[in-house]
This record gives sequence, C-alpha cells and structure tokens, in this order.
Amino acid sequence: MSIQEKIDQYTEEINNWTPRSQQDVEDYRLKFLVAKGIVKGLFEDFKSVSSEDKRILGKVLNEFKQLSEAKYVETKDLFEVSASASNDSNAQDLTLPGPGFEIGTRHPLSLVRKEIVEIFKKLGFIVAEGPEIEDDWHNFSALNFPEEHPARDMQDTFFIQKQEGNDIALRTHTSSVQVRMMESGTPPFRAIMPGRVYRNEAISARAHCFFHQVEGLYIDEGVSFADLKQTLYHFVQELFGEGTKVRFRPSYFPFTEPSAEMDISCTICKGAGCNMCKYTGWVEILGCGMVDPNVLENSKIDARKYTGFAFGMGIERITNLKYEIKDLRLFSENDIRFLKQFETETI
Ligand code: DAH
Repeated sequence: MSIQEKIDQYTEEINNWTPRSQQDVEDYRLKFLVAKGIVKGLFEDFKSVSSEDKRILGKVLNEFKQLSEAKYVETKDLFEVSASASNDSNAQDLTLPGPGFEIGTRHPLSLVRKEIVEIFKKLGFIVAEGPEIEDDWHNFSALNFPEEHPARDMQDTFFIQKQEGNDIALRTHTSSVQVRMMESGTPPFRAIMPGRVYRNEAISARAHCFFHQVEGLYIDEGVSFADLKQTLYHFVQELFGEGTKVRFRPSYFPFTEPSAEMDISCTICKGAGCNMCKYTGWVEILGCGMVDPNVLENSKIDARKYTGFAFGMGIERITNLKYEIKDLRLFSENDIRFLKQFETETI
C-alpha cells in the first residue's frame, strides 16, 4: 500500500472513530501517537519517498499528523470526570460553593489620589472634574499663557485638531478645570480636581506621555497667601506625617502671581540626603500661588472683590515618595506582581 493510501485509510478510520471509554482513548493513543505508533511510522516511510513526491506528500502527512493529534486532544478528557466521580462520590458534589472571585487591589495612584482628596474634603473642598480633551482657551489662554508660550509647542503638547484661534489638545495640566469651575458659577469656590494629563514626552523611568495631577482652587473674599501656606502645611502634615517640614521657593507660573514651588523635607532620609532628594534633603511636590487677576477676569470674576490661591501636584511624584517607587513606567505596565503589593480592595 502506498503512503497516500495508508493515510486515506487511517484518516477515514479516525473520522469514524468514537471512543466509548477512557480505555478506548488510551488504545487510540497507543495505536497512533506513541514513538512506535502509526504517525511516526508514516514519517519513517516518508524518508524513502522520491524528492519530487515529498513536496506534495509532506503536506498531506503533516495534515494527517495534526488530525490524529487533534482527535486525541478532543477526546482525552471526555471520560475523566465520570471516572473520578465513580471512584469518589464527593468529586461531583454540586452543592459545594464555587471557587469564588479573586478580589483585586487598588492601584497605587488611586490609593494616593483618594488620600489627597480625603484630606481636602475635610477642609471643605469639593471634588470637580473636567475633560481630558480640552481647548486652547481652557488649557492656555484663560490661564494667562501668552500666544508664544513654549508650552503651546507641538513638542510639548499633543494637539488633536486645529481650530481657528482655539486649537483642541489633550490637556497638559488640570489647571484647565479651574477655569471651567470659575466660568460655571460665582465665588466662593473651594475645589480639588484630580485627573489625567498628557505631555509629548519620550517615555522613561522619570517621564511619561501621560500622568496624573490634583489641582486645588480656593477663591473667596479676603483669601491670602497665609491661607495658602496654612492649607498646604496642614495637607503635608496629614499626608506625610506630623513634623514634615515645608518650604516655599519663589517661582513663576503664568496663572499665579506671586507663584511658588513647595518642597517638603525628604520623607525617606528625613533631610539627611539620599538618592530620592538628590542629596539636598528636600523634595519638590507642588506648584502654587495666588490666582492672577487676569485669570479671574478671564473667567468673569471680579478681581477687585475676590482673591484666591491655586496649587497643582503630580500624583505619581507623591506616590513615588510614599512607596519609594523609582520607575514611572510601573504604573501603567499592568504587571500583576507590582500591583498586588498594594492594599486589597474591600467590598
Ligand atoms: N499647572 C502646573 C503644572 O502643570 C502646576 C500648578 C502650578 C498648578 C501652580 C497651579 C498652580 O494651580 O497655582 O506644572
């Protein structure tokens, strides 16, 4: 019989075969699939075929091999359940509870965002949100960014659509939500605004094309820089523990005047100097300042009557400090070994 004829015959046999027991399946395996079985035998025969026949027959033979193996895979578990059930009467007890769900963990960024928000909620701040796809007005112009400001550069910002005088972009900071909030009503405003922001950055351990911020805004009659300092001092004591020092360094933001950056004493080395604080003993955690009167006026708020402060911080930065995480990419890689280390969600 030629190899082709043998393959035809065995193909028919396999197609018509229906096992009735585990033993049938085992017999099948012994007949076709073991080292001295039919499939291996055919491959042995194949070696002596002429080379021009090999091309066609090789394909047929491989298909046959796949068929014979697939049939085994399909049938090998068919009898296992009933076999064990007849041996052990507990194996099929359908009244036993199921295996249950594995409960996930909170993402470290969510944990820290929640902590930040809780602290400000106790001070009477409400939580507000705004869109991640934002227009130039809310992201830049209303916030007093001049026309030619470098942040508007394509290299820094992901623009989505050109639009006469009001381009659409992925927001580069949560400060845009300040404007939306102020446009939406009348003072007083006391809000905390968490969210995701985007910047055109090459991804590395220290930079990513998206990250998270929390913005804060407090506008009322008679709000002063002393209020800003006391509020942020309180926040730091709550989040990092009593005794954490703060310092304000003069800075510049288009939307605040005066502006400052706030550092805290390094929570890891307690000021002695380490990798995290680059041996300075201090770590910058946020930008802040008194809301520029131009910004108030842009949002139709009377700057002679109202004053206020604003601040913005990166959630990743704070999470890195709290959990000593050194690589930003871990937050978005979804590696279960990383994520599982954080607090389990409770229902
Ligand atoms: N928007 C700033 C940034 O992304 C952070 C910031 C600084 C927010 C000062 C503020 C502020 O509200 O007052 O770098």
